[in-house]
Amino acid sequence: MCGIIGYVGAREAAPILVDGLHRLEYRGYDSAGVAVQNGAGVEVVKLAGRVAALRGQLVHEPVHGTSGIAHTRWATHGAPTTVNAHPHRDCRGDIALVHNGIIENADALRAALEAQGHHFVTETDTETVAHLIEDAAGDTLEARVIAALAHVEGTYGLAVMSATEPGKIVVARQGSPVLLGIGDDELFVASDASAVLEHTRSVVYLDDGDIAVLTRGGYSVLDRESHVQLREVDDVAWDLAQIELGGYPHFMLKEICEQPETVRATLRGRLLPERGTARLNGLNLTPDDCRAVQRVVILACGTSWHSGLVGRELIEDLAGIPVQVEYASEYRYRRPLPLPGTLAIAVSQSGETADTLEAMRAARAAGARVVGIVNVVGSTIAREAQGGIYLHAGPEIGVASTKAFTSQIVALALLGLYLGRERGLSEERGRELVCRLIQLPQLVARALELEPQVRTLAERFATSPNALYLGRGVNFPVALEGALKLKEISYIHAEGYPAAEMKHGPIALIDENMPVVFVAPKDQVYGKVCSNMQEVKARRGRIVAVTSEGNGDLSALAEAQLCVPATLPLLSPVLTTIPLQLLAYHIAVLRGCDVDRPRNLAKSVTVE
Ligand code: F6R
Repeated sequence: MCGIIGYVGAREAAPILVDGLHRLEYRGYDSAGVAVQNGAGVEVVKLAGRVAALRGQLVHEPVHGTSGIAHTRWATHGAPTTVNAHPHRDCRGDIALVHNGIIENADALRAALEAQGHHFVTETDTETVAHLIEDAAGDTLEARVIAALAHVEGTYGLAVMSATEPGKIVVARQGSPVLLGIGDDELFVASDASAVLEHTRSVVYLDDGDIAVLTRGGYSVLDRESHVQLREVDDVAWDLAQIELGGYPHFMLKEICEQPETVRATLRGRLLPERGTARLNGLNLTPDDCRAVQRVVILACGTSWHSGLVGRELIEDLAGIPVQVEYASEYRYRRPLPLPGTLAIAVSQSGETADTLEAMRAARAAGARVVGIVNVVGSTIAREAQGGIYLHAGPEIGVASTKAFTSQIVALALLGLYLGRERGLSEERGRELVCRLIQLPQLVARALELEPQVRTLAERFATSPNALYLGRGVNFPVALEGALKLKEISYIHAEGYPAAEMKHGPIALIDENMPVVFVAPKDQVYGKVCSNMQEVKARRGRIVAVTSEGNGDLSALAEAQLCVPATLPLLSPVLTTIPLQLLAYHIAVLRGCDVDRPRNLAKSVTVE
């Protein structure tokens, strides 16, 4: 969602802040702004539009000072205008503040503050907090922030400065991620480690309820009663090259192409070939715990929900446990039923998705044991889960999730294998799966060799206004994911369906203009999917078949055939998804779309 960066140190703040914003732009990007303490007060420069425009504005309107805060905004309350961009100020212009999250009682607070004579200039919920701090009692900025927040309901990651306390930033966290970056003689605050990585790898993740005070002399973390809290300093494992384009035109393409390595990274150190099982130390599930699981509930959103659907097939098949896959946003508001014997799995790339976090909390409150399958180390879901599996896929910057999806499937396969082997899956099947998992990175690399073919295909379909994606079994979620990738970055309307469900309605859409992408590797339903192809062909639909090598010639049915390497049907989604990612990417590029920053989307959805 929105991004925050702040700096206190000896260097000029503005260039550091703008570079940090640039790295955060992928989170949300309709407007941006900086506030710098210039010795005489707090100076704010903000603008609707991209960070590049703000950078240009700062050339004409430079701000000098060695401490400041900055923000990229993804509008929730109020249009994406320059006025509504952060930082926001109080009536006197003493306070400047940036905020991620939502102030839920903003309307009531605004009415009360206006009645007391405060003058509001924006439509945002955030501005209320600046006015609350203006009025709050206290000898220090942190005391005033604590007093002001006592009136606030909602979620926030906040960074605040005051003209009367130069060189100080006060940070608060409730439900929106914020971390501190600890440098040599300088400190940072950021919503995401990527913003500070070029300066430091040492970070402190704040907890909900924390207030942090940053000055050049150091930092302290307080609770709401101003008691000092101890927080560990963690080391960020990512390096700078991982958050740079490295010669690729887009992060999405870079991340698609990284998948041989990211799949390998998810598997690294976790396979025990001799015993035909997986080692998942962080999961915190003993063999007895595994045997006691009666059902699994997977909680996720978007692409992660799709990988959860693949996970259902994997866990049911390998471990024989019934699995339910839930949209986290729906699950969190369902009537809570007691969940003894339930293993809830929160699947999330960012580890910060608000709906997944709340669903996970609801499952835990209902008695489930909760584990996470998460990419971002130290994220809220990772920290609140009772155990879990990190993807180790490295930072995913492209808004459209790609490498996280394949790594999530691999992590779910590892989990299925581990649970299965503790619950009667034979050593022979376990060994076979381990062997196939070991081969996967190489097979992913071979699937990527389809790129030139996919690019040519993209030229044929780039102008189609619609597309249908069909698959069955473990590849039905791949059809959903292929359709999601296409719609989110190329704005083409696309639907994913179980192939056999087509005849119950969507078949009405098929004519000579409708591209229909079949995901049909060799598996037990292959023959049936071929019959579905016949049905589409009979209605002159334009078929693209993603199938596996050795599956025979489909040219009588399909206008194009993309063959991924063969593997176990259960693992095939890791391969069949690759050409679909590439297809969406190339179509979007041909249509002139901003692939890494699709309209209206943000990387991590930290609000409801
Ligand atoms: C689609 C996409 C989203 C996310 C969803 C969940 O390309 O990226 O659908 O998958 O917002 O995000 P995480 O996995 O961070 O919880």
